[in-house]
Amino acid sequence: MTALLEVRGLTCGYGGGIVLDRLSLTLEPGKVMALIGRNGVGKTTLMRALIGLLPATAGDILLNGSPLSALPPDARARAGIGYVPQGREIFTALTVRENLLVGMSAAPAAAPSALEAVLDYFPVLRARLGQRAGTMSGGEQQQLAIARALASSPRLLLLDEPSEGVQPSIVDLIARTLARIAASTGIGVLLVEQDIGMVQQAADRCAVMDKGRIVNELDREQIADMELMRRQLAL
Ligand SMILES: Nc1ncnc2c1ncn2[C@@H]1O[C@H](COP(=O)(O)OP(=O)(O)OP(=O)(O)O)[C@@H](O)[C@H]1O
Ligand SMILES: [Mg+2]
Repeated sequence: MTALLEVRGLTCGYGGGIVLDRLSLTLEPGKVMALIGRNGVGKTTLMRALIGLLPATAGDILLNGSPLSALPPDARARAGIGYVPQGREIFTALTVRENLLVGMSAAPAAAPSALEAVLDYFPVLRARLGQRAGTMSGGEQQQLAIARALASSPRLLLLDEPSEGVQPSIVDLIARTLARIAASTGIGVLLVEQDIGMVQQAADRCAVMDKGRIVNELDREQIADMELMRRQLAL
């Protein structure tokens, strides 16, 4: 089977400094891979490199076997990468509906049914389609950010610390929903997260990042081991 995402020897950084150092990672369709690691280890940098905001100095990024490295961010979005940035970055002055339409516009072929499917996963948004996004709670805004990314019908969904600023019961809900979306749609999910509970709820596998590389990869049984997970985060 061709991997959905294959990162091979990816190297990049800022102003000559290296942050990602020959990083390799493979994600299968329909699976949730968590990515954990200390603050500043380079998790967001990896997201930026995957979506094309940061050029790679070496290595390859393959989506369904096709190299992405030469494509700018808009072309990568059209190729099937959806992104939920750290801090959400929804349009607070726009309504929920308008935010979702912006998401759909990233995929020219997106059908209206895509929007319905997304609202089925996040029913709280259906009741708030006309509400200004900035007036919603942190958890509702995070669900909107994820729904907006899904509205472009991606094949790969990248999320950068979606638990930040979200109350625990909604973190749980989002974790379960991500697992359900991956299993039922075949979308692959790469979930950057420091909340161990969220990783345990959502992830099939967990990659551990340190010194610019993936230094460990854990299966579900290992992810369930709280002590082991705490040790990985303290690396
Ligand atoms: N725009 C930038 N210019 C220069 N250096 C940067 C820039 N963004 C990040 N860095 C540096 O790159 C390294 C990795 O940062 P990054 O934001 O990827 O880490 P992170 O793992 O996402 O951290 P956190 O858990 O705090 O979100 C850090 O040393 C950071 O200072
Ligand atoms: Mg980060």
